[in-house]
Amino acid sequence: MGNADTLIACFSRSGENYRVGTIEKGNGMIIAEEAARLLGAPVYGIATVEGYPEDYEECNRAARKEREENARPALRFPLPDMAGISRLVLIYPNWWGDLPMAVYTMLDSISTKGLCIYPICTHEWNGLGMTDRMLGQAYPEASVMKGLAIRGTVVQDSRQEMAEALHRYLAESGFSLD
Ligand SMILES: Cc1cc2nc3c(=O)[nH]c(=O)nc-3n(C[C@H](O)[C@H](O)[C@H](O)COP(=O)(O)O)c2cc1C
Repeated sequence: MGNADTLIACFSRSGENYRVGTIEKGNGMIIAEEAARLLGAPVYGIATVEGYPEDYEECNRAARKEREENARPALRFPLPDMAGISRLVLIYPNWWGDLPMAVYTMLDSISTKGLCIYPICTHEWNGLGMTDRMLGQAYPEASVMKGLAIRGTVVQDSRQEMAEALHRYLAESGFSLD
């Protein structure tokens, strides 16, 4: 297995979400599980101590407040061991063109020097938005690689389309795949 240097980190929210109704597992987490299967790499779940409301509008308000405050919400789980990790497959939703603030909490808390970040962004209407540029600006010592955007509705409606897009992206990015 050639991906021993790889960690998958995923922020993903279950509950009521845009156009997909109420889901038990977030769109990004479904992608993360498929990525773990393909890469044989572990998944670190980026979750906050407080969590986010199930209700979409309430979640919007909570998340907007965090963003306006440029908050770094505390993480629920201990940070992953980054020893020997040089590639980070980072899966997150597009929240107003930006990353959820909890993703910044995680990246602020690890050494990003020399880390190759592969952004995979779930969204519904504007793809990666500014997220890849935001990552590049915030973590200049990392290399932010070409990203992949996948619609949440595609994850929910066509697992096969999602899996094919993910497989293609990971192969093009140079990962060894099962
Ligand atoms: C707070 C919030 C803000 C969002 N902002 C955007 C946005 O600006 N652009 C977009 O395309 N989708 C936006 N969405 C939709 C999510 O990106 C989309 O539903 C995604 O699939 C959620 O992934 P998850 O289930 O892994 O959390 C937003 C969703 C939430 C909850």
